[in-house]
Amino acid sequence: MIHKASLRSLIAGVCAALFVTQVTAAESPREQLSLDANWKFHLGDIPLDSFPGGEGVRLYGANLTDSGGKAGHVWGAAARGFNDRNWQAVNLPHDWAVAQPFDPKAEKQEGYRQRGIGWYRRTFKLDPADRGQNLELQFDGVATRCTVYFNGTEVAHNFCGYTSIYIDVTSMARYGNDVNTIAVRVDADAMEGWWYEGAGIYRHAWLVKRSPVHVVTDGVYANPVRGTDGKWTIPVEVTLGNTGTNAASPSVEVGVFDSTGKKIAGGQSAPVNIVPMDQALATLSIPVKSPQLWSVDRPNLYEVRTTVLSDNKQVDAVSTMCGFRTIRFDAKEGFFLNDQPLKLQGTCNHQDHAGVGVAVPDSIQEFRIRKLKEMGANAYRTSHNPPSRELLEICDRLGMLVMDENRHFDTSPEYLQQLEWLVRRDRNHPSVILWSLFNEEALEINEEGMEMTRTMNALVKRLDKTRPTTGAQNKGQLGWDGKANPKNAAWTMDVVGINYQNSDYDKIRAAYPDKPMISTEDTSQVMTRGEYATDYSKNIVGAYDDVYPGWDKFSSARNSWEETVRQRSFAGGFFWTGFDYRGEPTPFGWPSASSFFGAMDLCGFPKTEFYIRQALWVKNKPVLTLVPHWNWPGKEGQPIKVMALCNADRVALSLNGKLIEEKPVHPFQMVSWQVPYAPGRLEAVAKKDGREVARYVVETTGQPVALRLTPDRTTLAGDGCDAMPVTVEALDAEGRPVPLAQNKVNFTIEGAGKIIGVGNGDPNCHEPEVFLPPAPRSIPVNGWRWKLANVPGDRSVLPEYAIAFDDSAWKELKPTDGNTIDKEQTTAIYRAHVTLTEDDLKNAELRLRFAGCDDDGWFFVNNQFVGESHDWSSQPVFNAKPFLHVGDNVIAVGVKNSMGQGGLKPEVNLDLVAEPKPLAWSRSLFNGLAQIIVQSTKDAGEIKLTASAVGLSSATITVQTQPCAPRPAVP
Ligand code: GAL
Repeated sequence: MIHKASLRSLIAGVCAALFVTQVTAAESPREQLSLDANWKFHLGDIPLDSFPGGEGVRLYGANLTDSGGKAGHVWGAAARGFNDRNWQAVNLPHDWAVAQPFDPKAEKQEGYRQRGIGWYRRTFKLDPADRGQNLELQFDGVATRCTVYFNGTEVAHNFCGYTSIYIDVTSMARYGNDVNTIAVRVDADAMEGWWYEGAGIYRHAWLVKRSPVHVVTDGVYANPVRGTDGKWTIPVEVTLGNTGTNAASPSVEVGVFDSTGKKIAGGQSAPVNIVPMDQALATLSIPVKSPQLWSVDRPNLYEVRTTVLSDNKQVDAVSTMCGFRTIRFDAKEGFFLNDQPLKLQGTCNHQDHAGVGVAVPDSIQEFRIRKLKEMGANAYRTSHNPPSRELLEICDRLGMLVMDENRHFDTSPEYLQQLEWLVRRDRNHPSVILWSLFNEEALEINEEGMEMTRTMNALVKRLDKTRPTTGAQNKGQLGWDGKANPKNAAWTMDVVGINYQNSDYDKIRAAYPDKPMISTEDTSQVMTRGEYATDYSKNIVGAYDDVYPGWDKFSSARNSWEETVRQRSFAGGFFWTGFDYRGEPTPFGWPSASSFFGAMDLCGFPKTEFYIRQALWVKNKPVLTLVPHWNWPGKEGQPIKVMALCNADRVALSLNGKLIEEKPVHPFQMVSWQVPYAPGRLEAVAKKDGREVARYVVETTGQPVALRLTPDRTTLAGDGCDAMPVTVEALDAEGRPVPLAQNKVNFTIEGAGKIIGVGNGDPNCHEPEVFLPPAPRSIPVNGWRWKLANVPGDRSVLPEYAIAFDDSAWKELKPTDGNTIDKEQTTAIYRAHVTLTEDDLKNAELRLRFAGCDDDGWFFVNNQFVGESHDWSSQPVFNAKPFLHVGDNVIAVGVKNSMGQGGLKPEVNLDLVAEPKPLAWSRSLFNGLAQIIVQSTKDAGEIKLTASAVGLSSATITVQTQPCAPRPAVP
């Protein structure tokens, strides 16, 4: 590649045309700025020959040239000046896979959706006053493998879709009008799991600006401990960095604040010396008198404010939330929280939700945790990977205990670093009570696995001695003789984690008498919400808790919990799964695209298991629900199985006022009847000690006549992030939800909100979850011919530009041609034809897009001037619509090569850009329900959401968005 003398001034020209941002230095010593907005996205890899000169980015290896591989000089979509104008505008979190159609050829375990490769780009400016500050880019999660480029330098690779990427870009940043460019190439064809993993930058991204002397990311460890004397302290460790040019001796001041903002304790460390470009640890211990304890019912949190003082100035400050609680896993008695026994009532979960894939807004994550609490769950397993930071903050706030799981069972340096990152990031959360090192690994059964967990366990203990380790092991704890297998992973972790193997619980218990034990995973029953008969021909499983994969007899929800409770010494269990997730559609394949395991479907609508768990788990109030619905036309007189999910002693069931039977409730198996069907009113009365404690009615409904929309909350924060589910139902003439309604519903939205996804919880539904504006269609402009010829350096129309000009004797410009003009200060003309239809001309814009023109170009369509370009490294784009017509059109370009070699790059496209239209969102109800995810825009005001369906009266709701200070962000 030949360098051009004009490069700097030309790039400055491009920058001026780009989105101009200004990040001002704030008063606070540190700025944590959101980088979620204003990304450009391209689905698919960028072909190598679209780059000026044809070089590939470094990653490919092919066509690598010297300058293409040098810092600051990567090419193509990774490069600074690349033209991404035609790319889709997106905000993070973003999951492109959820917008792809279902495809039987795509991977079943990933939910039958093509994932592929995608590119993201974003630019930003930095105030010259930021010079000298420490700057870090942070990506909280990118699915799946990615390479990050900053200002034309390859700055990070990540091979785990669940770990954060922190990149110190201080030394590579540019200031003032010199634009900074981030490019991210994401390879989502890589699979790390056997479930839907999404595709893209699906968690938040940040730019952190902080003083050269600062607290490093995840650098505060402040986890309260209770001493043997019963007194509480917070041992604080703060890792400080110094990217300045002078040595520093900062000290750290720590204040502990309660939820009202009152300071309840504090302290200051001794000064620590840090030479430039090094790190040092400041430590102190803060006694705290009589704190309010954190528990699942009262999740009291305290704020630890860490301030860094250097030369008597406050140079950095970070806030960390913590909670005062003790945990203990006991080999005989199970789990204790704050010295009280607590059986862990846990769910395993993947992270995707209806409509949004894995790009789950924080508030939807909170909605999910609320639903799990409503079910009676007190524990959450982040199977099989580190969760988002926000999920743990929500669990801290709402009182949900967490088994925090590592993704890769691997003791190589790269993967140990992932484990280290997990513990450093998560070790302050009171919700986190258990580190899980792996799930169902082949090597868990032998010495190799045992040595690997010994290594991982030791790493965890170096970073956090307060929580035990476990591994979710589905085999290997027992030898062939049914006794302890002397060499397996269980020996080198603290808590024996058992996945399934329910029939061997007693044997495993006996084999490890001194080890605490927990069911890390069980159940795996399958249900379709609202269906009560299994039909393998239609990929439907009835929701009576009687269908499950055949691992063993305990796989029903009721049996497995009964067994977990029988094992008094077990800390509790995590069942598979709280919510359905995309992929792994056991026991089916195509067309089922998501799982059937959830107690709730993908939207969070309860299935029968939800009510079973409520009855098993909720102790402080009466629980009573009946299944199924009572709409069985055509089954009059035939027996229908009715189950009562209830935590009382007895249930009396009557139909249309006539008692059918009163029965005792089995505390685990519940109670059921066979009731000859007659339409009407089925009513259950639950009794405790002979007294009525709850009543539940289910009625036969009429046909749907109207729609109803129910928002999860009455307001949204107007910050452009807050989102909530809105439930869609069909009602009969008496206003009762119709359980079998399957109407197709259309949605429109106006005002301060937008729809970001729709769902209905049907694993077999292939309707789109996301509606996007159509991507512009492109017509390749091929068959170029060229000739060295005189071209004046202006817009003069030459005879060679004429439509009728005969260029048949000119040379062909082949797609593989690189530079065609060898000599400096030399000119040439290039011509090509493109045929268009009437429909093509109906588009709002027809953009002629060139891969490059080196150095100067004058562009003509049908003998008329459309534009010029004087930047050899840019990709010129012109709206050619006014100059094009139906039939044959001629594109002609006069080119001047000033320095080195040059010419017109052969790849030229005509992009047909349609008039933007409002998106036609729709979703069919599945067994009476659908869900819309509505997100606020940044405006305060009213959101008006309307649902309509053929033959039903429509429903409209309004939701207010509250003005709120937007999250500080990079513009
Ligand atoms: C387990 C596994 C889970 C899921 C489940 C389905 O063995 O840990 O990830 O695949 O089976 O039953």
